[in-house]
Amino acid sequence: MNEHTLSRRLERVAALVPDNARLADIGSDHAYLPVALMRRGRIAAAVAGEVAATPFRAAERTVRDNGFEERIGVRLADGLAAIEPVDRITAVSLCGMGGETIRDILEAGKVRLHGGERLILQPNGGEAALRHWLMDNGYRIVHEEVLRENRFDYEIIVAERTGPVVYSPEELYFGPLQLQVRSPAFLDKWQRALSRKRRTLAQLSQARGVPGQNASDTALHIGWISRLLG
Ligand SMILES: C[S@@+](CC[C@H](N)C(=O)[O-])C[C@H]1O[C@@H](n2cnc3c(N)ncnc32)[C@H](O)[C@@H]1O
Repeated sequence: MNEHTLSRRLERVAALVPDNARLADIGSDHAYLPVALMRRGRIAAAVAGEVAATPFRAAERTVRDNGFEERIGVRLADGLAAIEPVDRITAVSLCGMGGETIRDILEAGKVRLHGGERLILQPNGGEAALRHWLMDNGYRIVHEEVLRENRFDYEIIVAERTGPVVYSPEELYFGPLQLQVRSPAFLDKWQRALSRKRRTLAQLSQARGVPGQNASDTALHIGWISRLLG
């Protein structure tokens, strides 16, 4: 992967960034996403935020090698602290981190969001916790997808702040739109998850003592997944 050829995962994220966006890519690593979008003329400006020094320097290098220093600001910052009001950001991407980490970044930095930004989120696990945060903060999920790459199931969640929204526990777990669409990639992901969870529950049941919260959550989720798959 580089700024010319994105992974399939980041290619799908790129497709969900609105044309002419002013993008903040937080946890940008090499800044491949904003640089690829700028090379294609798809975005007007970008901020690439990184909390760690080595990826920050890699992002600076990618931006410099492509001559975009005037249009992509590379900032060493924790989460949304990379964004300044003067940036007039219209889209924020947070990709390739755990859903809980993305949630914590959004929570810690929510005063920096004006509410008009589209959030394009690609969590690696922890999706339910992230959807919970979106619901609690008035964000409606406007697009969701599952894709498989390198034997890993990735989810992409796009959200916009619209005001109060209520999702059921099952919608938070599976994704409200994915529950409706039930794409082949989504059903395949949950078929694999079901086998994994059954193995986990069998192991937990063999452990001595009173079954804990973990076992009852796993049993609950197995019931939901079994119903989903019919
Ligand atoms: C696995 S990489 C993903 C890179 C790229 N976004 C992608 O999807 O390919 C995660 C990056 O997020 C950065 N990161 C983690 N926590 C962060 C935070 N609080 N603020 C900014 N960057 C963070 C890490 O340093 C790392 O470079």
